[in-house]
Amino acid sequence: MALFSNRHIERIVILTGAGVSAESGLATFRDADGLWEQHDPMTIATPEAFARDPELVYRFYNARRNQLPEVQPNAAHKALARLQQDFTGNVFLVTQNVDDLHERGGSRQVCHMHGELASMLCQSCAAVMPAVADYDSASHCPRCDSRGKLRPDIVWFGEMPYHMETIELQLADCDLFVAVGTSGVVYPAAGFVRQATMHGAMTVEVNKEVSEVTGCFHQQRQGPATVEVTALVQELLAD
Ligand code: OAD
Repeated sequence: MALFSNRHIERIVILTGAGVSAESGLATFRDADGLWEQHDPMTIATPEAFARDPELVYRFYNARRNQLPEVQPNAAHKALARLQQDFTGNVFLVTQNVDDLHERGGSRQVCHMHGELASMLCQSCAAVMPAVADYDSASHCPRCDSRGKLRPDIVWFGEMPYHMETIELQLADCDLFVAVGTSGVVYPAAGFVRQATMHGAMTVEVNKEVSEVTGCFHQQRQGPATVEVTALVQELLAD
């Protein structure tokens, strides 16, 4: 497609959000059936909420973790993995998602800026460990043995996302920035398109509808991620 054929693209940054996993059957946050339509995020996804009612928070994340074996990566996850494998330049994948569908779709490099359901974090000794069971206030840390100090390894509102230094270096150095299935309301991820543009990158948004930041992109491809990401990857690999 003309957008790419007259540009030299060597370094790509892809940002994904909940929309990339929607067609696998995982609820997004802000769509009509979204998680934050059913739960107030301030009662679940803040350190204060965890301190106030840990059992509620454990139940929420246990349920989401238990859903993972029931869902499969979709064509969008697989297309992005193919791009990472077959593109001659560099493809850096950063996701706000805490599921493991990019990895199971074949991606070998995935930067989880909001943490992962697959791990737990000890608030006492800072150990990060694989999540192997359901957790509650009686769970103890296998490293320091503290009880009630394990929390989901998820970046909550008011906390600093992971890997920001690496992400910013990638944004400063990319020729193409693509955001897939994200509403553009949660920062810092919502600001990545402006950062990439400032450094001279071409920017493309894939979303089934207009997002909060659509106007910041050079191009929007409106439609389901499975269709639009597959087409975009084909174009990039054909160029
Ligand atoms: P949102 O739920 O805010 O947005 C999902 C976006 O995906 C919306 O813009 C939808 O239009 C789009 N979408 C839904 N289905 C799609 C499909 N099949 N194809 C293409 N687009 C589709 O989710 P995020 O933007 O990921 O953070 O939310 C960002 C952060 O807010 C999350 O990481 C989470 C949440 O609070 C934490 O929990 C810390």
